[in-house]
Amino acid sequence: MPEWLNALPKAELHLHLEGSLEPELLFALAERNQIALPWSDVEALRAAYAFNNLQEFLDLYYAGANVLRTEQDFYDLTWAYLQRCKAQNVIHVEPFFDPQTHTDRGIPFEVVLRGIQQALRDGEQQLGISHGLILSFLRHLPEDEAFKTLEQAMPFRDAFIGVGLDSSEKGFPPRLFERVFAKARSEGLHAVAHAGEEGPPEYIWEALDLLKIKRIDHGVRAIEDERLMQRIIDEQIPLTVCPLSNIKLCVFEHMGQHNILEMLERGVKVTVNSDDPAYFGGYVGENFAALHEHLGMTEAQARRLAQNSLDARLA
Ligand code: HPA
Ligand code: ZN
Repeated sequence: MPEWLNALPKAELHLHLEGSLEPELLFALAERNQIALPWSDVEALRAAYAFNNLQEFLDLYYAGANVLRTEQDFYDLTWAYLQRCKAQNVIHVEPFFDPQTHTDRGIPFEVVLRGIQQALRDGEQQLGISHGLILSFLRHLPEDEAFKTLEQAMPFRDAFIGVGLDSSEKGFPPRLFERVFAKARSEGLHAVAHAGEEGPPEYIWEALDLLKIKRIDHGVRAIEDERLMQRIIDEQIPLTVCPLSNIKLCVFEHMGQHNILEMLERGVKVTVNSDDPAYFGGYVGENFAALHEHLGMTEAQARRLAQNSLDARLA
C-alpha cells in the first residue's frame, strides 16, 4: 500500500467484529476452549473462503463465531482488530457486534459486551482510537427476538451509540423491523441498517423512511434508482461501502466494475470500509489500495473518501 494512503487519517464505520476473526486466532481460541473444528488447519479454513453470495459467507461466519466463548475471547478479538487499525491510521471506529449470534449459543449478553468494551477502552487509552459501538439485529430472525435483544442491552444503554440490521438481506426487508427500531430510537440510539447490498433499492427507501436511519450500510444498489440517488445526494446520507466485500460476495464481478468512485463524483457521501476483513482479504487500508489499483483512485479522491468517513461519524 502506498505510504500516503496508509498515512491518511480515517474512520471505519462498517466493521463486524465477528468478521475480524482471523483464522489464526480462530484456531487459537478453539484450542483454548477445547472446541473441535471441521477444518484440519488454518490453510484448510482459508481455502473455504470462496463465496458465491452473502448467504454462503454468513454460513461460515456464524460457524467461525462458535469459538468465541469467554469475555477474554471477545477482548482478544476486539484488541486484534484495534491493533490493525492503529497500523493503518484508522483513528475512529464504529464497529458492529451481533449479540444474537452469541446469546443463542448460551453466552450471556454481558460476557460478550464486557470483553468488547474493555478492549475498546484500552484502544482509546493505549492506541488513541476513539469509538462508538453499534448493536446489530439479525434480520433472518423475527422482530420479537430483536426486541428481546434490545431489552437485554438496556441495562448497558451507555455502552452503545446505535442499532443496526444485518445478516441475510433478500426476503428480510427493513419494514419487518419498524417497531423495534422505533423503540431503539426512543431510547436515544442512532439507527443504521444494511440495505442495497444484495437487496433492491426499495429496501433502502424502507430503511430511510421506516427505520429512519442515519447511514446506509452498503447501499451500492441505490445507483439503480435515480430518484433515490437524488435523495441521498440532497440529504448527504452517508453510505458505508465495502469494496473487497462486494467482490468476494459477487455483488460486482470485478473491482474494475465497482461504482464507489462514480458515486463519489456524483456527490454521494461514500466511505470505504472492510465489513468482515478476516474473510474478505483485508482491512480499510487494503480496501483503499484496491480502489487505487483497480479503479485508478487519485490521491484527491482518497482524501475526500477519508474525510467523508470522519464527517459521517455518529460518535
Ligand atoms: N451483510 C449482511 N450481514 C453481514 C455482513 C454483510 O456484509 N457481514 C456480517 N454480517
Ligand atoms: Zn456488513
